[in-house]
Amino acid sequence: MLVAPSILSADFGILKQEIEAICDAGCDLVHVDVMDGHFVPNMTIGPVVVSSVAKASTKPLDVHLMVEDNNFFIDLFAPLKPEYISFHLESEKHPHRVIQKLKSLGIKPAMVLNPHSDPSSLEYLIEDLDMVLLMSVNPGFGGQKFIPSVIEKAKKLKDIINRKNPNCLIEVDGGVNDKNIQQLKDAGVDVVVAGSYVYGADDYKKAIKSLQI
Ligand code: DX5
Ligand code: ZN
Repeated sequence: MLVAPSILSADFGILKQEIEAICDAGCDLVHVDVMDGHFVPNMTIGPVVVSSVAKASTKPLDVHLMVEDNNFFIDLFAPLKPEYISFHLESEKHPHRVIQKLKSLGIKPAMVLNPHSDPSSLEYLIEDLDMVLLMSVNPGFGGQKFIPSVIEKAKKLKDIINRKNPNCLIEVDGGVNDKNIQQLKDAGVDVVVAGSYVYGADDYKKAIKSLQI
């Protein structure tokens, strides 16, 4: 299991140290939550801060867009060369076009599904995706309770992936901890995002290790 700590739960007063700490602690990706105050009822960071994050990080960036205007934000973040940019199916009228745009920029495209969205909606997109992110909380805030129906959804998605694009990864984001990690693994999940569980721990290394099963 790959682990992508979400910096949303980091101490932003000492952001550089917080990024270095999770990289030194052996995380696999650094998850960056971008919110616009429209698609979700919260705002986070823009390209100026994310460029400092990119400089401090020795691990690839996993940028999660929670925004209405995906094209606008992709243009802002593409110069920072993230490994993945994920965007929500619920916010995009032309997902196929956005996927092609990300590919042309050399960024791995990932699509995000909110808790209510059915993975079958990706049946005709999956071949072009490197990753699907399943939300296990309603997007907008860290520290929320895990929604267990994501387990069944991950299994359903895994069937589609096995049939159409076995290289596509499944990522789960929200409320992930050492209590639900085994269930996620058993359901076929490849990557977990963990914000409060990692940054709320006294020992980041121990917390990250406990999820890398
Ligand atoms: C929620 C974000 C998550 C969040 C996860 O909108 O997408 O990445 O930071 O935080 P935890 O792990 O605390 O639920
Ligand atoms: Zn996220």
